[in-house]
Amino acid sequence: MIDTISILGGHGRDGNREPVERIDFAMGDVVSIVGPTGSGKTTLINDLELFADGNTPTGRRILINGVKPPPEYRDNPAYNPIALITQHTTFLSDLPVKEFLETHARIRSKTDRDVASLLDNTLAFANQLTGEPIHTDARMTELSGGQTRALLIADATIICDTPIVLLDEVENAGIHRTRALELLREYRKIFIFVTHDPRIALLSDFRIVMKTGMVTDILRTDEREQLYAREVSKLDDALCILRDKIRKGERLTGHLLEAFA
Ligand SMILES: Nc1ncnc2c1ncn2[C@@H]1O[C@H](COP(=O)(O)OP(=O)(O)OP(=O)(O)O)[C@@H](O)[C@H]1O
Ligand SMILES: [Mg+2]
Repeated sequence: MIDTISILGGHGRDGNREPVERIDFAMGDVVSIVGPTGSGKTTLINDLELFADGNTPTGRRILINGVKPPPEYRDNPAYNPIALITQHTTFLSDLPVKEFLETHARIRSKTDRDVASLLDNTLAFANQLTGEPIHTDARMTELSGGQTRALLIADATIICDTPIVLLDEVENAGIHRTRALELLREYRKIFIFVTHDPRIALLSDFRIVMKTGMVTDILRTDEREQLYAREVSKLDDALCILRDKIRKGERLTGHLLEAFA
């Protein structure tokens, strides 16, 4: 049983010691990683996924339940507690969606599970996040960027069913972000997002701030920011409506600020 995962600080690109020496994540935490382009967000996520042990360019170390994780976590996909959804999801697999998910369910499975219902649940989850539903006979390579992301998030959450899920930038994929967060919150896992999105950042329990390859600060979402989050959600909803109209080829009518009321 995994209760916590920890990152022990290493050094930045310039070789300086990382200012934040330790970060602990507990089961149920939703966390954002924020920072400018090139600040090392993907690298931090990769350290987690690799169970870094001072053997990556950052010198960081990862602990599970306070100790060095056993090698089978990394070597056996059925025991790996981490699912990662990368920033670039170009697919090498040309399998139909159904076979892709079935294969994955087999690889990730420790015991016999009801694969048919796993697939149904995964697709139902994914299709709540996309505008255009995903069909099981479509090939993985035919899916749009948003559909691929939605499917991989559902796959990580339901099929992999790992206690830790890492997501590198969900927002650019054109999926329903708030819906995704609501659905994910129903699962008790550790979710770590790389994000530039104020809404996702403010819905997180805390955010990890990065500069020049180092974690420089940890900001817990305080009460004031939680109030702020409601206003940000309203703004974001209004922008989503505008975006949707543009997508559908409609004209924007009425007074702009009415949408923000
Ligand atoms: N601590 C570090 N030590 C050495 N190199 C690092 C460190 N952190 C990041 N890098 C290097 O810096 C480069 C940029 O890092 P990375 O891709 O993680 O940035 P990012 O924040 O994900 O950027 P983007 O927002 O564009 O995706 C990479 O080449 C990475 O290997
Ligand atoms: Mg990145």
